[in-house]
Parts: sequence; structure tokens; C-alpha cells
Amino acid sequence: MKKILITGGAGYIGSHTAVELWKAGMEPIILDDLSNSDPTVLDRLEEITGKRFAFYQGDCNKKSLLKSIAEKYKIEGLIHFAAFKAVGESTQQPLKYYRNNVGSLLVLLKFMEEKGIKDLVFSSSCTVYGQPEVLPVTESTPRQEAESPYGNTKKICEDILVDCVKSKMGIRVISLRYFNPVGAHPSAKIGELPLGTPNNLVPFITQVAAGIREKLTVFGDDYDTVDGSCVRDYIHVVDLAEAHVKALAYLNKQENNFYDVFNVGTGNGNSVLEVIHAFEKVSGVKLDYQVGPRRPGDVVKTWADTTKINNVLGWKAKYSLEDSMRDSWNWQKSLD
Ligand code: NAD
Ligand code: WQD
Repeated sequence: MKKILITGGAGYIGSHTAVELWKAGMEPIILDDLSNSDPTVLDRLEEITGKRFAFYQGDCNKKSLLKSIAEKYKIEGLIHFAAFKAVGESTQQPLKYYRNNVGSLLVLLKFMEEKGIKDLVFSSSCTVYGQPEVLPVTESTPRQEAESPYGNTKKICEDILVDCVKSKMGIRVISLRYFNPVGAHPSAKIGELPLGTPNNLVPFITQVAAGIREKLTVFGDDYDTVDGSCVRDYIHVVDLAEAHVKALAYLNKQENNFYDVFNVGTGNGNSVLEVIHAFEKVSGVKLDYQVGPRRPGDVVKTWADTTKINNVLGWKAKYSLEDSMRDSWNWQKSLD
């Protein structure tokens, strides 16, 4: 069975990807320092798949740890999820973000070179596009100056990958630019575990519905959008996880020194109010929300053109917004 090392594999997207890799006949080897995740996820993954995945608790910036994993397992591919992702915090502590997000990629690339590991899937983000002038966003939409150090780490990492491929070090790489990941595993055994007050919309919604937070504030309803609130492309995390499986399969068929980038979204934009109403519909819970001021720096509207990933990787989102809200809600309820 092909062994795939997943850094950040105990996290939100990584844990769902571990399940999809296993379903596709690959064995995930998880490396995570648990800085933003919980060790019980390993038990949950076992409940879902029936398999206890190999797990290393540690920092993927540590080359000695990577080497010891490679001594035990023949690693045939790598998915690099591990990163810090709090946009606001990154503006206060930029070095923390550059060190972890950019530094870890450098260490991993050196490790790949030394061990002859060819295939890498990298977690990038729609944040690299900022507010695009033309919608939907294609992969050739120009990237913009980053709004935050976090966003900049994604741009820098993409550039590092391009340069390494150009240098003919032999690797094959896909950067996946995720739009807004939401939802949870339909089993409600794994999902997003935000530490403290959630920064993102959907965990905030589910926590308000569960009575953990008092009220949701909609950040502005006077934008030039369908109903005045901001628009995003919300992609179910299981669909997103599957895109990594497709990406690895595609990389495997490429020549050495390959790089490409794909948007991962549904292709549809939904407003904040539409998300709230979809949640209310599937949960039967009336959300206490108010409209507040705009959030500084917010992108007004963005959604993906998914033609490239649909045609080249043969991947298409299957879950609807309502499916995502149902699964997020079931996950939230399971935490009580
Ligand atoms: P997450 O925080 O749930 O998962 C990241 C995991 O990496 C965590 O389990 C954390 O403990 C671990 N980690 C962090 N630094 C580490 C290190 N040095 N060594 C080992 N483990 C480390 O986040 P997520 O939402 O699953 O995001 C995964 C990736 O996708 C990140 O690179 C993130 O930037 C990117 N991304 C996320 C979103 C989103 O909205 N969730 C959107 C676009 C891109
Ligand atoms: C979604 C919408 C808010 C909370 C973030 C990161 C970005 C990328 C994706 C990683 C916006 C509105 C939110 C609330 C609200 N991540 N909102 N009330 O802004 O697309 O981006 O996640 O790469 O880098 O910045 O996601 O979930 O924060 O917000 O009205 O309490 O919900 O204004 O329109 P966003 P989000």
C-alpha cells in the first residue's frame, strides 16, 4: 500500500484527507505537533476507517523527525497541510507565520530531495487572489499583494515550489488553492475544532446555534452583492479531501519537474445571509444574528471557476451548501 506522509494530518482538512486516502487504497502516515488539533482525532479516524494510522507527534520543521519516519516507512508522496492559519494573529506575529509556514516547506523540500520523494500536494488558498476584478476566479487570475502575512506565506510558498521545479530537482507538485472549507465528516466523528472564539463564519454559526456564543454579527449588508452581504465559495471538506486524492493520482502520471495549480471550490458563490438561511433550514434552529459594520480588509465577493480541476483532475464538488450546514451542525452537536 502506497504510504503518504501528511503533515498537519490531525487538523481539520488533513484528518478528512486521511480518510479519503485510505478509501482510495493509500496509507496515511500522520505527522502533527497538535498545536491546533487534538490527539483523539486518531481514535476517531480508527472508528471511521477501522485502521489505526501511524502517528508522529512533532514539528515538521524537524529534519531528524522526518528522517526517522522515512527510515521506518517508504514514503511515496507528501501532503503538506501543517501551517498556522489565523489571519489576524499573523499581522501581530508575522515571524511566527513565516517561520512555520515558509520554514517548514523549505525543510520538507530538502527532505524530499534527499530521500528521492517526488510527489507533493501543497495547501494553498484563494487568499492569494485577494479581491479579483473578474469573477469567477480562474487559475490565471492574477495574484494580488497579500492582505496579511498569512496570505503572503501562501504566495511565497507557491513561488518557492515553482522555483524548485524550474531548477529540475525532480519533484512533481500541485498547489491546491482552497476556497472556503466548511462541513464535517458525515459520520460526525471528525470536524473543525477551533480554539477559542472562531474566526470563520460557519464554526461561529454552529456555536451560536449551540448556545456557546450569544449572537452572530453579519459583517456588513451594504456591499454590491446579491443581498448586500459578502459572497464566498463554500466547499465541503470531504469534497476538498477527495481533491487531494485526485491530485496525487494525477501527479503520479506526470514527468519529473512538474508543477500545476488548481482552484478547489464548488463554482458557486453564496452570501453570508444565504449561509445563515441554509443553516436555519437544515438545523431547524433560528439563529440570533444582527447586522454589524463591515470587517476591515474583507474580500467582498469571490468564487472559483472550477473548469480546470473538473477537466484535468476529473474532480467535481458533490456536496451542496445545505449538506455542508447539516454536517457542520451534526458535528457541533456531537461535541456537547
Ligand atoms: P488546522 O489548523 O486544522 O490543521 C493544521 C494542522 O497542522 C494542525 O493539526 C496543527 O496542529 C498542525 N501543525 C501546525 N504547524 C505544525 C508543525 N510545524 N508541525 C506539525 N504540525 C503542525 O488547519 P486546516 O484548516 O486543516 O488547514 C490546513 C491547511 O490548509 C493549512 O495550510 C491552511 O493554511 C490551508 N488552508 C486552510 C483554509 C481554511 O479555511 N481552513 C483555507 C485555505 C487554506
Ligand atoms: C466568511 C464570510 C465574513 C464571521 C478566511 C481567511 C482566508 C482563507 C479563508 C485560509 C465573510 C463573514 C464571518 C462572522 C461574518 N483561509 N463573517 N460574521 O473571510 O473568506 O477568509 O478563510 O487560507 O485567508 O481570511 O472566511 O469564514 O472569516 O468569513 O459575517 O462572525 O463571513 O465577513 O464575508 P474569509 P471567514
